[in-house]
Amino acid sequence: MTKKGVNIKPASGKLGVLIPGLGAVSSTLIAGVFDVLRGHGKPIGSVTQMGTIRLGKRTDGRSPLIKDFVPLAPLKDLVFGGWDVHGENVYEVCKRSAVLKNEDLEPLKAQLEAIKPMDAVFDKAWVHNLEAPHVKSAATKYDLAMLLVQDMKRFKAEHGVDRLVMIWCGSTEVHTDLCDAHLSTEKFVQALKDNHEAISPSMIYAYAAIISDVPYINGAPNLAVDTPALRELARERKVAIAGKDFKTGQTLMKTILAPGFRARSLGLNGWYSTNILGNRDGEVLNDPGSFKSKEVTKLSVLEHILDAEQYPELYGNFQHKVRIDYYPPRGDDKEGWDNIDIFGWLGYPMQIKVNFLCRDSILAAPVALDLVLLTDLAQRAGFYGIQEWLSFYFKSPQTKPGLYPEHDIFVQKTKMKNTLRYMMGEELITHLGLEYYAEED
Ligand SMILES: NC(=O)c1ccc[n+]([C@@H]2O[C@H](COP(=O)([O-])OP(=O)(O)OC[C@H]3O[C@@H](n4cnc5c(N)ncnc54)[C@H](O)[C@@H]3O)[C@@H](O)[C@H]2O)c1
Repeated sequence: MTKKGVNIKPASGKLGVLIPGLGAVSSTLIAGVFDVLRGHGKPIGSVTQMGTIRLGKRTDGRSPLIKDFVPLAPLKDLVFGGWDVHGENVYEVCKRSAVLKNEDLEPLKAQLEAIKPMDAVFDKAWVHNLEAPHVKSAATKYDLAMLLVQDMKRFKAEHGVDRLVMIWCGSTEVHTDLCDAHLSTEKFVQALKDNHEAISPSMIYAYAAIISDVPYINGAPNLAVDTPALRELARERKVAIAGKDFKTGQTLMKTILAPGFRARSLGLNGWYSTNILGNRDGEVLNDPGSFKSKEVTKLSVLEHILDAEQYPELYGNFQHKVRIDYYPPRGDDKEGWDNIDIFGWLGYPMQIKVNFLCRDSILAAPVALDLVLLTDLAQRAGFYGIQEWLSFYFKSPQTKPGLYPEHDIFVQKTKMKNTLRYMMGEELITHLGLEYYAEED
């Protein structure tokens, strides 16, 4: 038991990290963790590993690293596994994805080769641009879920793992709207048994995780735990869920810049964003159905930050366009261009151009690591259902129905750090700061 905080079970034993989708992001995450553990690279971009948290007053001088403040699983206790349709081990995926250099991969070869994917639950109707030789087969979608449950049990026993977290790093599935089968746990289970077409593979993984009391994180724009059925099930089983769609390149920049315009009451006429991307994610997103899922999460960001209803004169009439073009020569090195048409004093127009030459998986890997560690913490702290305090990491943060999401990255950061302070029984920080001047009287 902490001071006045929450009772958090210790991070004892090993934490199994199970990943549907052993592709560019997950292989970069796994190789990166091994590289850090061998004392070579630094976990840059990981707020849990590199970030600090201020405790008490600014004059107290207490700013520990987050990983020293809250009882997170140490990196050495992580055991990785997962499912994929391709059958390649993680070393082969790293080589093919060409994100990390050979000189960084070779010392890790044996460790990476040892991680081989389990056969996937896959359906081409949900991801068109992908060949899938290694998949499970069963009579019903319910049976497929049961096979995943068995995989998890076997993984736990084989690796002597104490707890599990599942994080979806699989391809983006085609866009789908909620339908009747998603509306309650009862209907959902029946739909699994009836092989209902509205149940996607990512929902089957999520269902298998939740009934196994394993927290589920959704790194893609898929519906999955955004369905009322799985939300309800997560609350019933007291399992933490978080999503959706990792916030990395262009959307990260949007949620850094747009709050600044709003804070200074600068207006917006338009924001045109385009990207070229040549990795397998880009190939999958080349399919209009998968792109539609991405477009929805990418577009919602500005509308929420620049609230047109509250500020009709500033944001009542802006154009927002997002494009992603698959361009193989670039591989994982995405290039994004933003043209931002803003206006200032008396309506005079100005332009801002952002040209971000980023590396998709280099940005996503630390986000995935933090989400794994913080969701495991949430579960041990007895936080279950939607973990809105992890909005910081998502393009389309999951919230309780009827509650608008916070997209402003600085609000998200305050929310996350205050949640950690709350867990540990530390005073929340309001940034009021009058107390420093009261001392002078
Ligand atoms: N890299 C980023 O910056 C970023 C940001 C936000 C979201 N994402 C999302 O993260 C996911 C992973 O991205 P990536 O670059 O690693 O893509 P990737 O194509 O390299 O990897 C995805 C992997 O998932 C596998 N897969 C597809 N369906 C599966 C299923 N049903 N079961 C098991 N495996 C399955 C594919 O075979 C592939 O190996 C994508 O959905 C992407 O949109 C990435």
